[in-house]
Amino acid sequence: MISKLQLQDLDLKGKKVLVRVDFNVPLTKEGSIADDARIKESLPTIQYILKSGGSAILMSHLGRPKGAPDPHFSLAPCAKALSKLLGIPVQIAPDCIGQKVEKMAQDLQPGQVLLLENVRFYPAEENPSLDPTFAKKLASLGDIYVNDAFATAHRIHSSTAVIAQYFPGKSAAGFLMLKEVNFLSSLLNPKHPFYIIIGGAKISSKIGVLKSLLSKADGIFIGGGMAFTFFLAQGIKIGNSIHEDDQIPVAAQFLKECSEKNIPCWLPKDVIIANDFSDEAQSKCILASQGIPEGWQGMDIGPQTIEKWSSSLKDAATVFWNGPLGVSEFSHFATGTEKIAKALSSLKAMTVVGGGDSVAAIHHLNLASPFSHLSTGGGASLEFIEHGHLPGIDALK
Ligand code: 3PG
Repeated sequence: MISKLQLQDLDLKGKKVLVRVDFNVPLTKEGSIADDARIKESLPTIQYILKSGGSAILMSHLGRPKGAPDPHFSLAPCAKALSKLLGIPVQIAPDCIGQKVEKMAQDLQPGQVLLLENVRFYPAEENPSLDPTFAKKLASLGDIYVNDAFATAHRIHSSTAVIAQYFPGKSAAGFLMLKEVNFLSSLLNPKHPFYIIIGGAKISSKIGVLKSLLSKADGIFIGGGMAFTFFLAQGIKIGNSIHEDDQIPVAAQFLKECSEKNIPCWLPKDVIIANDFSDEAQSKCILASQGIPEGWQGMDIGPQTIEKWSSSLKDAATVFWNGPLGVSEFSHFATGTEKIAKALSSLKAMTVVGGGDSVAAIHHLNLASPFSHLSTGGGASLEFIEHGHLPGIDALK
């Protein structure tokens, strides 16, 4: 629980409430929104502000536009999507600071919503020290500041951690931020058995969270691209599979710690391998103990692994899952991720999932409702579990 001011503690009537949301949504090649989950999750905060007699000035980033305006990363499609969800017009500003924007903010009436253009069109968003006046200019648009962008709360950016200083006694966490913190905090004192399923390509980005949860876990399942670095640490050949050479000792040390602490660490028993990194590649299933031949690469966990993991998860009281277990963006290699998602959806346990690809697989299968919590944050959820706090939350004094 965040022991800070909450939205309900603030008088929002007639106030312009500046809300940092995370509308960094995945886009299709044609530029339309592929998954609007992050926009939907921001609705309770926005609706509460409007219902309380305030107006909402929303700011967000989208993608990584390198500090300059880029129409590919315009938030205009998000304004449209939000307008549809709220059932009222949502204005999109041509910029996030400047005279035109100031006028639009001034003219905003209670019950109205204005979405500012992408804050990352300015380099000072990601590097606040480049221009300390950037955060101040953003701050001048609102009377109250609310941070509801959990997925960006691990970044020390102008619109997240820096801006809050301009709102002493007038800043609060939004409802999404609170919900994320409550669910993810419960993993720090989990009900047992507690299992962790980790996938994705890189050990380097997940080892922190693995280590921090190690003493609390009753079993760890490792899939995805990172499993191949663990294979190398065990002397298993991986052919052309993705791996991180410099993480082999880290993987070996982690396996050693698991065995010393008597915590089962499951690596894939069998693997679907392919002769190319493509959805159309020739593929076959092999036992991991055979090793992956040269010219072939691991693409997914195999059927024996799926069966074994699904049955081992059955007695879970708590599960945390982060990262796809195969190349889930290719339909032929999404089976492991999808079958484990299905297995988790049938558990009576508390199930918490973080990370874009694993959550996307759950949405794709229309399985969201049985899960306890689908985090909107990838990196943020991992860093929150690892450190127990995030700069964007700490800044809300
Ligand atoms: C995310 O999608 O993880 C957040 O929106 C943060 O984006 P970033 O990794 O580009 O900072």
